[in-house]
Amino acid sequence: MTKAVYPGSFDPLTFGHLDIIERCVRLFDRVVVAILTNPAKEALFSVEERCDMIDKAVRKRFPNVEVDVFHGLLVDYAKEKDAQVIVRGIRAVTDYEYEFQMALMNRRLAPGIETVFMMPAEHYSYLSSRLVKEIAGLGGSVEGLVPPQVEKRLKKRFRKS
Ligand code: PNS
Repeated sequence: MTKAVYPGSFDPLTFGHLDIIERCVRLFDRVVVAILTNPAKEALFSVEERCDMIDKAVRKRFPNVEVDVFHGLLVDYAKEKDAQVIVRGIRAVTDYEYEFQMALMNRRLAPGIETVFMMPAEHYSYLSSRLVKEIAGLGGSVEGLVPPQVEKRLKKRFRKS
């Protein structure tokens, strides 16, 4: 059985992330979408909220996808989950340097775990959670960039502040 961990901040989930999840599902028997808990990194949504948004988006569509939270080293978490693969989405050349560094460092830490890079559909190549938050925060539309339930939460969050 091949198991992959797809780690990230997912603050919030976008259609770009979902595109990668959909591709993972076709390649691996089980996929764990793993949200990093990082108290040092300020996030718009709590880990519970992020978990809930992903869960709502995948539960019915992809029975072989699990949503989880992790802290500490990613390779330790992947070992704990018995995953052989770490999946990362690559959008543009600008992502490459950071991802390359991380993949090689993870390989040094855990030679048995392979990092697989996946490209989302071209129309998501400019999409990022950071931009989604910026646009939503400034009152712009993020329709078509995130699932409707995430759009609603963004509206609610920014209405409050
Ligand atoms: O969505 P992001 O913020 O780009 O995801 C980054 C993530 C969570 C994959 C990365 O920060 C990570 O793996 N953090 C866990 C700590 C770790 O293992 N650090 C060493 C990496 S070589």
